[in-house]
This record gives sequence, C-alpha cells and structure tokens, in this order.
Amino acid sequence: MTDWNTIVAPALRELPPFPVAETIAEVQGLATHEDGAKLNWNENLFGPLPGVLDAVTAELADAWLYPVAPYDTFRAEVAAHVGTEPGCIFPGHGTQALIGTVASTFLQPGDAVVLPELTFYLYAGVSAARGADVHRVPMRDDLSLDLPELAVRARDVEARLVWVCDPNNPTGLTLDREAWEVFLDNVPDRCVVVADEAYIDYLPSERRLGRERDVAAGRPVVVLRTFSKFYGLAGLRLGYAIADAALVDRFGVIEEPFNVNLAALAAGRASLRASEAAGRRREEITDARALLAEGLQQAGAEPYPSQANFVLARVGVDDVALADELARDGILVRACSELGLPGHIRMAVGPKPVMERTTAALARASAVIGS
Ligand SMILES: Cc1ncc(COP(=O)(O)O)c(C=O)c1O
Repeated sequence: MTDWNTIVAPALRELPPFPVAETIAEVQGLATHEDGAKLNWNENLFGPLPGVLDAVTAELADAWLYPVAPYDTFRAEVAAHVGTEPGCIFPGHGTQALIGTVASTFLQPGDAVVLPELTFYLYAGVSAARGADVHRVPMRDDLSLDLPELAVRARDVEARLVWVCDPNNPTGLTLDREAWEVFLDNVPDRCVVVADEAYIDYLPSERRLGRERDVAAGRPVVVLRTFSKFYGLAGLRLGYAIADAALVDRFGVIEEPFNVNLAALAAGRASLRASEAAGRRREEITDARALLAEGLQQAGAEPYPSQANFVLARVGVDDVALADELARDGILVRACSELGLPGHIRMAVGPKPVMERTTAALARASAVIGS
C-alpha cells in the first residue's frame, strides 16, 4: 500500500481534512424536515435574482464549447459594474478557489501570513497548506478587527500576506475608510493585503470602501468577491478577483483562465444586469435581518450589529448543545465553538417566516438547555 502521508507535500501532512461525510449527513438530516432551514453556511435563502436562471438555460446550447467568449464578456461586464478595466478582473470558480490562487501566487514554505483571530476559516488552512506560518491577531473586545495591530504584526513578522474579510465572517462587522487607509500605509513593503468582500453587496453603495480605487492607485491590494452570497448562486461556484492587470496575468498561471463554467458566467452577468431587483433584495434582507436581531433579543440572545446576510449572537448557553437542539427542529445554525467563539451562534438571514420560526425555536431550545 502506498503511504500517501509520506508523499504529499510536508505542509499538508498535519492539516485536518474537511469533514465531508459529516457535512453531507447534516444536510441529509435536514432534508427529513418538511420546513427545514439551512442557516449555517450563510447561503442566500432568497435564491437567484429574477431572470438569472433563464439566462443560464439560454446559454446551455453552447455547452460543447470551452467558455472563451463568455469568459471575456463576463470580465468586461464585471469591470463595467465595478468601474475598472477588464484586465483587472480575474474570474474564478468561487472565492474559495481564488483564495487558493492568491496563496499559491505569493506564498513559499516558511513565509509569514497574518490574519485576525476570528475570521473565515479558509485563509489559515490554505496558507498553512502552502507551508506558511500563520500569525493570528486577537479581536478587539467588541469583536471588531484590530487593523492597527494587524499592521504591527505584519511588520514584526515581515508578512507576505494579510487576510482581511470585510464585512467580517462571522461577526458581520465592517471597516471604515479612514482606518483602512492608515492600515494600508502601515503594512510593510512586499506585503499584499487580500480583502475578501464576499458580503460587500449587502451594503448600500455609499457604505462600501471602494477598494477597486486602491487597486487602481497601485496599492498592494487584491479584492475578492463572490456571487454565492448576495446573488444567491452558491451552487454555481462563481467569484472574481480585482487586482492589478500584471498580477491578474500571474493568477492565470496558477488557475487556468477559462476554468469557470459557462452556466456560472451567464448567471453572473444576468445577476449584474438585474440591478433593480438587487436593490429590492438588499432592502428585503436588511428588514429580515432587523427582524432576526429583534427576535434574538426577545429570545434572550445578544446579536452583533451585522451588515451582512447573517447574524452572530451571544447565546448564554452551550452553543453546540443549542445548535444540536435546533437541528432536531430542522434548523441548522453554526455553533461558533468551532470558530473559536464558544457561547455564540451564527445564522443566515432568510425570509421573515423563517426568521420568526427560528427565533421561536431558539427561545424554546435555550430554555431546554438552560433548565
Ligand atoms: C468570507 C467568505 N469568503 C468566501 C466564501 C466562499 O465563497 P465562494 O462560495 O465564492 O467560494 C465564504 C463562504 O462562506 C465566506 O464566508
């Protein structure tokens, strides 16, 4: 028998594999509930925007072709949407793939990487898989990102990469422009800042930091965006990076261009065109999020002021037991012990009836566990 552990890259040997079987079992368990609600992965329960699935269907006759022309059109339309050049847009099959592309582009074994203690889990794993040393910076007391400390640590360890998620997952908290600019001024030379904006589309445009301007100004910034969240296309796997055109060419060495499927590209373009429906969607989700936060408070939990399509809440009981109890009711939420934040759960925002059912179930489940 081949002992794969002696053959795979050394950095991979100690890293735990993703719990695929458990994840599948969890989703299958949910399917046994007639009105189950999957709120644990921040998917968009409102689904794709109107017209998007028709646009996908219309494109499928070309499925026999490699998606060269659709890739080009997608880049052009995303660039127009963002306000940049097509050469600065690098499509990927989901931000997760792009996180890997960025890591492979910059990291060598032994390089230093800096990230916040509490953020999307993948940055640490992907960096460690490239042999990088991962340095975590504690959150502030209110769980916001400590940007000054991230810059200080990046200087101390001569970091190659700093990963920043804004709005941050799992808190839903956002950064402001002034603090961001000071941070950029303070990261060391040759250090790249990756800004994962997976949830940015939930913010009204006037509240976004406009990091595409940092890219255009030649700052060492890479922005990552996805169609999985606001646009409700997680199953199609589509995202893009905004970066300097010379860097985009480098990404194309790691992640082959045209490696994004035709259906996803069509869905992405149609989503951007549906701007009126997107505006209504944003308002609907903002209202549903307020309802969820209110219901959480009434159920005795303490929600954080999220700007995204999920809410983190301190629950005052064992979060894992609470999540298990809710799962019995057909509601999947994220127990945040897994993310290093015991006593908290995170749940996605969904249509109002789902939110009402969730907070009622949460009040019941908390009482059962607390008694
Ligand atoms: C911060 C963040 N980035 C990226 C992703 C994954 O995005 P994608 O579906 O585009 O791979 C997620 C999904 O939960 C996320 O929370």
